[in-house]
Amino acid sequence: MKYQEMREQICDICNKVWQLGWVAANDGNISVKMAEDEYLATPTGISKSFITPDKLLIIDGEGAIIQGQAGYRPSSEIKMHLCCYRERPDVGAVLHAHPPTATGFAVAHRHMDDYVVIEDVIAIGSVPVTPYGTPSTDEVPDAIRPYLSQHDVLLLENHGALAVGADLLTAYYRMESLELWAKVQLVAELLGGAKEISRPNIDRLISMRGQYGVTGKHPGYKKYNK
Ligand code: 13P
Repeated sequence: MKYQEMREQICDICNKVWQLGWVAANDGNISVKMAEDEYLATPTGISKSFITPDKLLIIDGEGAIIQGQAGYRPSSEIKMHLCCYRERPDVGAVLHAHPPTATGFAVAHRHMDDYVVIEDVIAIGSVPVTPYGTPSTDEVPDAIRPYLSQHDVLLLENHGALAVGADLLTAYYRMESLELWAKVQLVAELLGGAKEISRPNIDRLISMRGQYGVTGKHPGYKKYNK
């Protein structure tokens, strides 16, 4: 996709994320890999409802600005984004937001790895809560790095959620799936608790990823809660 088209798509996703209530004030950030060592990314400190294509920055693999309007600086979470690209050559986009139900699990230190919703077993698999990291520091990339080889979606302890994908729409859909799953799980808990899918059926669902054209990584049958 050309730069201008991608700038518009990033702003479109920023607006969706804000409208869905997944961010407040200046929360959240998005980046897209445009070429080797070249990324289009949201700047720090801007509401995702007011962002416009001209405000996005082009940055290099170290987080330095290649091109951008005066006064705009890279996201404070750019190290987390760049860690995803370094660890996962298959990743083309990174989305960080605070969807409230999924973030509730991150705040409660509850891994989302009950295999209870068919679509999420196929598309995502378990979603661990990664260790606490102070925003903007190397603690955040250090905390997520060990999980990236198996996961496309992570919860960030007491913070929010992170989704990666081969492209931005894929990362965005993963975040949507995460939040819907968190809502369903919460409702199930109010109704007496979610019931897990049987192990043979879980294995069968995971084996169907190819049939559905699902890209990315899957942790398999992994239980963080045990
Ligand atoms: P930035 O405005 O620096 O991108 O930070 C927003 C955020 O959500 C931090 O976690």
